[in-house]
This record gives sequence, structure tokens and C-alpha cells, in this order.
Amino acid sequence: MNNTIRDQFPILKTKINGNSIVYLDNAATTQKPQFVLDAINDYYTKYNANIHRSSHVLAKEATERWKNAHQIVADFLNADSYKEIVFTRNTTEGLNLLVNTYGKANLSKGDIVVISEMEHHSNIVPWMILQKEIGFEIRYIPVNEDFDLDLNWLEEEIKKEGERIKIVSVVHISNVLGTLNPVKKIVELAHRVGAFAIVDAAQSVQHIKVDVKDIDCDALVFSSHKIYGPTGNGVLYCKENILEKLPPYMGGGEMILSVSKDGFEMNDLPWRFEAGTPDIESGIVLGETIKWFTKTVDEMGGFEKLIEHERSLMKELLDSFDGIDWFKPFGKIDYNDRYGVLTFNIEGFSFKGCKEKRQENQEGDGIVEHISKKGICVREGFHCAEPLHDAFNVGPTMRASFGIYNNIEDVKTFAKSLKEAVLSTY
Ligand code: ALA
Repeated sequence: MNNTIRDQFPILKTKINGNSIVYLDNAATTQKPQFVLDAINDYYTKYNANIHRSSHVLAKEATERWKNAHQIVADFLNADSYKEIVFTRNTTEGLNLLVNTYGKANLSKGDIVVISEMEHHSNIVPWMILQKEIGFEIRYIPVNEDFDLDLNWLEEEIKKEGERIKIVSVVHISNVLGTLNPVKKIVELAHRVGAFAIVDAAQSVQHIKVDVKDIDCDALVFSSHKIYGPTGNGVLYCKENILEKLPPYMGGGEMILSVSKDGFEMNDLPWRFEAGTPDIESGIVLGETIKWFTKTVDEMGGFEKLIEHERSLMKELLDSFDGIDWFKPFGKIDYNDRYGVLTFNIEGFSFKGCKEKRQENQEGDGIVEHISKKGICVREGFHCAEPLHDAFNVGPTMRASFGIYNNIEDVKTFAKSLKEAVLSTY
């Protein structure tokens, strides 16, 4: 990786206690290139106005750009139309929207929702909340000892339960294991019994090519801030013929065409799912971000080159700890099979969120704090995937996660600092 990408990120030039930042917390959120920062500034200095409402010049421009941002995202995902793209606040809101519209309208007592043991809490808890109201079952695709989803289990379940399975909702790339799930196959299995298939792409769109037509999922969600865009905006893709039939999610301005004392008429797609004034700046800038990201990946030589680059970082990181007994990776240990994240435990230490008393172990978050003084940013905890840690009887973990700007130096600095901290017990 040459520095032309890295140099575009001003925050990476700042220092922490005189040390260059080594930012390895990209699965939590990514840094923003100057292009994106300029686009935010342009919005507020050149065409800030509310959308869909007035016909003055600024309002027209903001509205046009808002719609265009939906089209850019549709093209990025290979969706048929901007009408299939709803802007939400984030992945979590996209999933909650699906649970409370499709889920609420289609689930009854006795039905089954299939998720997996490696889901983020945002693809577990909303189902649990609705379950209390309706009484359907939630079943989990187990993660096998190779850290893959057990597709035999799913196939058997589909054969056994048939149309009782109404929804299958799975993560594309795990934010803990880095496993890339065969979502196309999972969607095909779900469709055999007519189930609605959802993909959580929060950790995939920034690492691999995501094509909703190829996957054939009915819905897919992701967040802007994890793909180098601003916080405050997320994306819900849903096939138009399904979105068209969904009940409304939130009521209010702009999701309607007209309202009288007797009722209301819903607006066209996708605006009927974007009630109230949205985060206009963030949505428009997401469109600009996707343009930047697509161009940057193209200039690298395509997604294959991006994957190759991130694999080289993963190889370096795993090689740095090869043969070290106290380093306990969680998940696959072949660098070719991990996308973007490496989680691990350090023998003798326990990290924030640990349920057991820490009498015997030293506190791992002390290590995170210690190396952070040297400019290193990583995350520790359950990474909002507690059931996955429980399934393997693994306590909270430390996680290093890559972005497009990371280089071998980042990995070497992190590995060296971590070894020093552990060996000196900071
Ligand atoms: N879900 C984000 C993470 O994995 C915040 O850190």
C-alpha cells in the first residue's frame, strides 16, 4: 500500500503523546478522508436546506442531492432503483425497521425466526423484543468448531420445519471472528420455504464487493460510518415488491402524500420510510463517500486488491504472534479466512465485561489503556456479540480491525507495543 490513500486522512497525521496514531478500531468506526470532510463542509456552506419541502433554490438542490445519494447507494449495491434504498440512522435502525414492519406483519405464535450464534446484538435483541409480544421462536444457526456457520443444521431445520420458518437473518462478516458467511447459499435455503432473507452487511461493504442481486437477499443493511462516511446515516436495501407492501414504521412529515382527519395516504418509495427531517448532511455525504470509496478501490485495482492488502496485514499480525503461548486468537487462524478483524485473548488477563471476578487475572483493559498512550487504538469487550463469546465459553476479547489506510507499519507497531505491555505487565 502506498501512502496516497493514507495521506487523505488528516486524523492519521495527528499525534498522541508525540506518537503517530495507529488506528486499528475500524470495525467500530472508520476515519474520514479529506474528500468526505470537504463534502460535509460543502453541504453546510453551499446548500443547507430541508428536503422535499420548499421550492427555493437551496431546497431544490438539497432534495436533488438527497435523491441522488440514494441512487449512488443503489448502484453500489447493484439494486434495481433508488426506490429500494431507505436511509436510516445506522445498521441497528435498519434491522429494527425490518423487525417492526415485516416481522410484526408476518410473524405469529409458533413461527420461527432463524438467526445465528455469531450475530451482533442488533440482530438479536430487536427479535427478542418482538418475540415477547408475539411468541414466535428464535433459533440460532450454530457456529461449528471451524468457526463457520453450520449449514447442515440449517438445511435440516429447513427440511424439518418448512414454512414455519418465516425469516432468516444473518451477518455477512462477523465483527468478532472475521468469518465471511456464505450468504448466497443461506438465502437460497431460506427461499426454499418462502422465508424472508436479511443480510447484515455492516462489516462487509467496506471489505468486499456486495451485490444484492447476486446474493438475492430480500433486505440488507449497513452503516455509513463504517465505510468512511459520517455517523448518523445507515442504509436499508429492500426489494421493491416487498418494501411496497410493508406497513409504515414511523409516522410524521414527508412519509405521507396527504393527511386528513380521516386518515393519511402514504408517500412513494422510499420516502414513506424516512419520516421527519433526516440527517440530510450525513445522507448526502454518504453518497459522496461511496463515490470516493468506489474510485479509491478501482484505483487500487478492484476489491481483489483491497482483500489482498488486508490479508497481508492479517498475515503479518498473526505471524507476529506465532508461537507465543499467551496469545490466544478467537476464530480462524488462517489469514486467508479472516476478513478485517482479529480478536484474541491474552492468557492471564481478562478484559472489560468479564463476568468472573478478576482476582486471578490482571485487567486487560489496563493493557488497552497503556498502549493507547502510545497512540494505538484497539477495542476490548464483547463487541456487542455476547452470545458468540458464550457459545465458545470465551470471555471478553481484545480486537484489532483494519481499514483501507492501514499498513504493515501499523501492525508492527501494535504487535511490538502489545508484547512489551504484556511482558512488562505495563
Ligand atoms: N458494532 C461495532 C463493533 O463491532 C460498534 O465494534
